[in-house]
Amino acid sequence: MSKRVCVSDFEEQARKVLPKAVYDYYRSGADEQHTLHDNVEAFNRWCLVPRVLRDVSSVDMSLSVLGQRLSMPVCVASTAMQRMAHADGEVATARACRTVGTAMMLSSWATSTIEEVAEAGGGPGAPGVLWMQLYIYKDRELSLSLVRRAEQAGYQAIFLTVDTPYLGRRWDDVRNQFKLPSHLSMSNFSTSTLSFSDGSYGADSGLAVYVSKAIDPTLSWDDVLWLKRNTHLPVILKGVLSAEDARQAVDCGVDGILVSNHGARQLDGAPATLDVLSEVVHAVGGRCDVFLDGGVRRGTDVLKALALGAKAVFVGRPVLWGLACQGEQGVAELLNLLKQELHLAMALAGTDLSLLGPVDKSTMGQSELLTLNQNIDTAP
Ligand SMILES: Cc1cc2nc3c(=O)[nH]c(=O)nc-3n(C[C@H](O)[C@H](O)[C@H](O)COP(=O)(O)O)c2cc1C
Repeated sequence: MSKRVCVSDFEEQARKVLPKAVYDYYRSGADEQHTLHDNVEAFNRWCLVPRVLRDVSSVDMSLSVLGQRLSMPVCVASTAMQRMAHADGEVATARACRTVGTAMMLSSWATSTIEEVAEAGGGPGAPGVLWMQLYIYKDRELSLSLVRRAEQAGYQAIFLTVDTPYLGRRWDDVRNQFKLPSHLSMSNFSTSTLSFSDGSYGADSGLAVYVSKAIDPTLSWDDVLWLKRNTHLPVILKGVLSAEDARQAVDCGVDGILVSNHGARQLDGAPATLDVLSEVVHAVGGRCDVFLDGGVRRGTDVLKALALGAKAVFVGRPVLWGLACQGEQGVAELLNLLKQELHLAMALAGTDLSLLGPVDKSTMGQSELLTLNQNIDTAP
């Protein structure tokens, strides 16, 4: 096994070990995947302008996020069905996050239970930080039961996904008639219909059929207020891409906004997340924290997102590649790689977390560290 030195090395090895339908499910974006490519490309539209002679012998990357202390501003995004990547699935990811000192967002569609993951990575009295991602089901009591279980198991925040009234059309999943392998299920649900294991999905993407049956497309701002009334945990909206929605979210009293296009798996043609970040940051005006995910693959990507006003970023697919390569150890190695890359990027750029943070409006979204890449014609 050759040494893994960057995130794409992890992906390359993962591609070799994963069954094709699983790799396709993890990798794919929606439709022609314009947004999938743009999420990554957007980072190349910005240059970092290093500042020199600033004594970077110690660069502190630790910070407080949603009231929790983390070792770095890079957290793990919710990705469904992780036991397809490795037998230990979400439990391995939680252990790795705990080791590295960062937070894991657990998917509603995990193949491990909320309680199993809490035992591995967090829970009352444990140092790991766990956040719960929530889909709202047509059966509201079912969604609420996930929230209650998360509260009881010691999860510290709810990330409400708001970009999935229906599943985006991912061509490979349709071609592969994607479904879970028969030994796995979405473990947080007790019936075969809800746990995505009854197998009756016809010739489509099984997950698209599942979503159309179970998830509630009537979701609206009233439901955000409903959730806020029904939990004492912070509520963060996952999937906001416009200043207007960000303002409305703040008016609803949310505790954070995650600028996300669901890893480009929903609306193809939606903007790259980095391209709308500063607009959202300005709209929010410091009234809650703003996070970003989508296309983060290098330490320099993290630094650019922070310089444009994100409090922290999340990574989705890279974690799945780490898991597929080597389970818990693979995820820890992947997260440590991003940590080292960010450390080096901050030192070489002559900056520190204390110098970053939400950008002042008068600077039009460019902190002193950033400049548009003049070689790119299509500036954001
Ligand atoms: C295989 C896969 C499964 C995902 N499952 C979920 C999920 O269950 N819930 C959710 O809110 N987002 C889900 N997402 C979106 C991620 O939380 C995140 O927004 C996205 O992966 C970030 O982009 P990146 O993969 O480029 O880092 C999934 C993404 C992938 C790639």
